[in-house]
Amino acid sequence: HVGWALLYAGHLNKNYLSIYVPDLKTTTWFDEHLTEDNQEFMRKSMAEEYRRQTADKLNPLKDEPWPRQEWTEGSRRVGLIAVKLGMVPAWTKTGERHVVTMLQVQDCHVIKCLSKDEYDGHTAALVVGGKNVSPFYRTEQQMEMFRKAGVPPKQKLTTFKVSDNAIIKPGTPLYAAHFRPGQYVDVTAKTIGKGFQGVMKRWGFRGQPASHGQTKTHRRPGASGPGGDPAKVFKGKKMPGMMGNIFDTAYGLKIWRVNTKYNVLYVNGSVPGHRSCLVKVKAVHIHTHTHTHTHTHRERE
Ligand SMILES: *[C@@H]1O[C@H](CO)[C@@H](O)[C@H](O)[C@H]1NC(C)=O
Repeated sequence: HVGWALLYAGHLNKNYLSIYVPDLKTTTWFDEHLTEDNQEFMRKSMAEEYRRQTADKLNPLKDEPWPRQEWTEGSRRVGLIAVKLGMVPAWTKTGERHVVTMLQVQDCHVIKCLSKDEYDGHTAALVVGGKNVSPFYRTEQQMEMFRKAGVPPKQKLTTFKVSDNAIIKPGTPLYAAHFRPGQYVDVTAKTIGKGFQGVMKRWGFRGQPASHGQTKTHRRPGASGPGGDPAKVFKGKKMPGMMGNIFDTAYGLKIWRVNTKYNVLYVNGSVPGHRSCLVKVKAVHIHTHTHTHTHTHRERE
């Protein structure tokens, strides 16, 4: 925290220095118990160890997986966490050109199983983690969860509702082969942050004329509503503001191709997020209306 002290020393009277230095408590178990050299060593060796664990497709399950159950109509399988690699064109055999996004499934594991009661009382759920990260900045509580599953700590965790016959044991690795070409998926990720933007960029307003006496009113919103009655601006009025950096979902994207060697999914069209961001990939389930909870499902034939 020498950096902070120096920063503040430049601005403040020396006497006040002790009061203004912020109390940053960023120490972790590693900071407290290891010398700097040892920390350096740990960082390197742990990264290598994690890489080895996941690279040789070593199944980290300590004992037998849970019995596998048959797929039935209406079963709901778990999804994946993938890394957005970027977009490329792809051609079908008939010569049609499509633009596809490549999503790579990196170190994706089932972390935790939540029973019906633990989750929402209606469905069971699986917590899935993607992309190994350094354990240095994880809390002991989080580490405990990963240790229980027998997998390295993950950068992103997400929960999938699953039907009872699709529950998988924590620690099971998931690969791109989880999906088949021709399947449809929903992809959720955080959109690229655009900062504070005006109405033209944020909401697609057309702006105002460039000439004919317009003065300094070209990209502005114009009037925001009538006066008199209702004499107010309605809530939710489209106005300038922060744009992007929120979670968004691209629905019903077709999987054109699956590369099982490099674990890459080729999905149709674009998905939210910047390159190398982590995305949630959820299967679109085929449903017949035999039961009533259809809130997040979309129908496909
Ligand atoms: C692929 O995506 C494009 C644009 O995003 C869309 O127009 C097209 O219908 C999609 N095709 C399929 C087969 O999903």
